[in-house]
Amino acid sequence: MTISATAKAASAPQNGNQRLLQAAAEYVPGGIHTAIRLIDPPLCVRRSRGAYLWDVDDKRYIDYHAAFSPIILGHAFPAVIDRVIDTIKRTDLYGVSTTELELEVAKKIVQHVPSAEQVLLCCTGSEATFHAIRVSRAFTKRQKLLKFQGCYHGWHDSVLRNVISPPDRVDGLDPGSAGMLSAAIDTTIVCRFNDLDSVEAAVKANPDEIAAIILEPIQHNVGCVLPKQEFLVGLRRICDREGIILIFDEVITGFRHDIGGYQKIANITPDLTAMGKAIANGFPIAAIAGRRDIMQRFNTRPGGDVFFSGTFNGHSSSLAACLATFETLEDPNTHKHLFTLGERMRSGLRAIVERNGFPCTVAGFGSVFTVYFMKKNKIENFNDLIDNDAALYVNYRRALMKNGVFETPMNLKRSHVSLTHTESDVDLTLEIAESAMRSTFDARTRGEF
Ligand SMILES: Cc1ncc(COP(=O)(O)O)c(C=O)c1O
Repeated sequence: MTISATAKAASAPQNGNQRLLQAAAEYVPGGIHTAIRLIDPPLCVRRSRGAYLWDVDDKRYIDYHAAFSPIILGHAFPAVIDRVIDTIKRTDLYGVSTTELELEVAKKIVQHVPSAEQVLLCCTGSEATFHAIRVSRAFTKRQKLLKFQGCYHGWHDSVLRNVISPPDRVDGLDPGSAGMLSAAIDTTIVCRFNDLDSVEAAVKANPDEIAAIILEPIQHNVGCVLPKQEFLVGLRRICDREGIILIFDEVITGFRHDIGGYQKIANITPDLTAMGKAIANGFPIAAIAGRRDIMQRFNTRPGGDVFFSGTFNGHSSSLAACLATFETLEDPNTHKHLFTLGERMRSGLRAIVERNGFPCTVAGFGSVFTVYFMKKNKIENFNDLIDNDAALYVNYRRALMKNGVFETPMNLKRSHVSLTHTESDVDLTLEIAESAMRSTFDARTRGEF
């Protein structure tokens, strides 16, 4: 065999997942449609049901990735799917005026989310945060935005920076893409989560210039960093004092932790809220909601001066999914199950870590959990996560995958239980997790990564 033939044989796809990804890469850059879907080893899903996924080779996984969080009830949840199918047989999308379904969904959001006096529907979380920031700028006649290191709010220029930053860029300049408008980068200030002093200093250095403070009330884009109550209270106080709009990005926390969002749990009402993901158990819909006087600035109202538009806003399929999801979340047993199962997972993981003396920290809230590969008593912001061993984090998740448990093998990504996961799914996962952790630490000891 020639050298090039040998190299070719080595890079030939080994299984259906690799073959499909390679075929797609002929037509699509990298073969995938969202940058962070590229994992090693690749996983191409053909079907799903409840708590499980099956790849193109028909291998089954217990799914805790939940498509990056929307799947709160489980895949193809019957009440959602039935409602969608029934609805789209008689109605779809019109691009004129409003529909009864849009009104029903808006009423539900206003009913449940404390900050929501009025609502606008869009399709993605990025759109929701984009509109929240633009209306804040119009309302305050100010330009600057304050965000926190480690929070992700979507792909647009004002927010795409300082999420999972390399250590030398933490709290500094860390734009997330080439091609970003430098003016947008320069008008975004980055502060430390749970650190009111850093916020006070930024406010002092930029007097009457900050339009909005935006945050994930729990930092789930770096696993799970909980807010101190006094931090949220302090942000509310600073915003009231300085005339700054407080935006909670509840794209992950909303609905997953409470039907009223984390703002209901924390009893802190922001001025604006961005919602998405779990709002419709995987169907594409998002929302911005908030104070009536701010929402009235959108030009969906005659005389409004803040542009708001979207061809697919309010598609009946997503609205139907949203209503069926709300109905399920309105049953208190839904969140009870999510929280109980999440706690079973976390306490099981903690027991594994303690039993084996692994240098790990288990974190999470409600249905969300993760294992950081570092030993820490307190995790208050991204700086506390710099010691997390990314290679162990990712390789542990690869070991889980090998054994039929899917937590995406990417550093600092969170995992979730859904309504359809059972105690026996969790117990089986814990058995697999213990051997996966052991084999990962053994491989590290052997110098394999
Ligand atoms: C907290 C948060 N906000 C906004 C977004 C952007 O949402 P989308 O991907 O739907 O645009 C995400 C996506 O992961 C998110 O986690």
